[in-house]
Amino acid sequence: MAKIVAGVGSSHVPLLGVAVDQGKWQDDYFGPIFQGYEWTRQWEKESPPDVVILVYNDHASAFDANIIPTFAIGCGERYKPADEGWGPRPVPDVEGHADLAWHIAQSLILDDFDMTIINEMDVDHGLTVPLSMMFGQPDKWPVKVVPLAVNVVTYPVPSGNRCWALGEAIARAVESFPEDLKVQIWGTGGMSHQLQGPRAGLLNREWDNKFLDLLESDTDAARHIPHIEYLRETGSEGIEMVMWLIMRGALGKRVKRLNRHYHIPCSNTAIGHIVLEPAD
Ligand code: DHB
Ligand code: FE
Repeated sequence: MAKIVAGVGSSHVPLLGVAVDQGKWQDDYFGPIFQGYEWTRQWEKESPPDVVILVYNDHASAFDANIIPTFAIGCGERYKPADEGWGPRPVPDVEGHADLAWHIAQSLILDDFDMTIINEMDVDHGLTVPLSMMFGQPDKWPVKVVPLAVNVVTYPVPSGNRCWALGEAIARAVESFPEDLKVQIWGTGGMSHQLQGPRAGLLNREWDNKFLDLLESDTDAARHIPHIEYLRETGSEGIEMVMWLIMRGALGKRVKRLNRHYHIPCSNTAIGHIVLEPAD
C-alpha cells in the first residue's frame, strides 16, 4: 500500500529560484539561506520518496480571475514550468503520477471534498522553487509530483480548519492506494510577508516561530487560527501558511521533528522550513 512517510513545510520564494538558476547560492546573502536547507537536501538524497504531493498556490500563472479553483489536483502526466514574466525557469519538466492523482481525486470527492481536476497546467515558483531547494539542479527531478493547488490569492480563501481536514482526507486516500509507494506531502508558501501597500515588507519572527511550534505542540490551536490573525500578524501573503496545515493534517496526531530552519530576511519574506515524520 502507499504510505505517507514524511511532511515538509517550506517557503517558496521566487528569488531563490533565480539564485539557483544563476548559480548564486553561495554568496553572502544566499549562503546562510541555502545552508539552512543542507540537512534536508541530504535527507532527501538518502531516502527519496517515490511521489511528492506538492501543496502550493498558483500566483496567476495557470489560473487568473476567470477561474479560481479553491482546491485543484493535477491528474496529468507532466507539467511545464510557467513563464512568470522572465521566461520559464530552466528546470526539468515535472513528471506527474496520474494513477495516484486520479485515485486521490476520486477518494477526496467521495469524501465530500469538491476538487477541481486539472489535466493540463504550467507550474510556477510555488511548486518549482521547493523542488530546487530540496533537490538542487538535477537533469530530471528524482520524484513524481502530484500538484495540489490552493487558492490563497483571491478571497474567499479556505480556512485553516478546512485545509487540515483536507490533509486528513488525503492521508485516507493515499493509504487506500494499492501500489507500494513512499509518499511525502509538502505544504509550501509563507512565512510572514506582505508584497504591497503601506505595510509592504512586514515580517514577524515571533509569530512565525510560534506557528512552527504549534505544528508540533498544539495542533488544535494551529488549525483554528483565523484569517484575520494571519493578515494582521504576518501580512497579506502570510495567508499562504494555511497550506502547511494540509501537510500537517495528513501526518496524524503526533509527529517527530527531523529538522527546522528559520531565517530573516529573504527577498521580501521570512524563510522557514520544517521536516516532520508521523509518530502515531
Ligand atoms: C515573494 C514571496 C512569495 O512567497 C511569493 O509567492 C512571491 C514573492 C517575495 O519574497 O518576493
Ligand atoms: Fe507565494
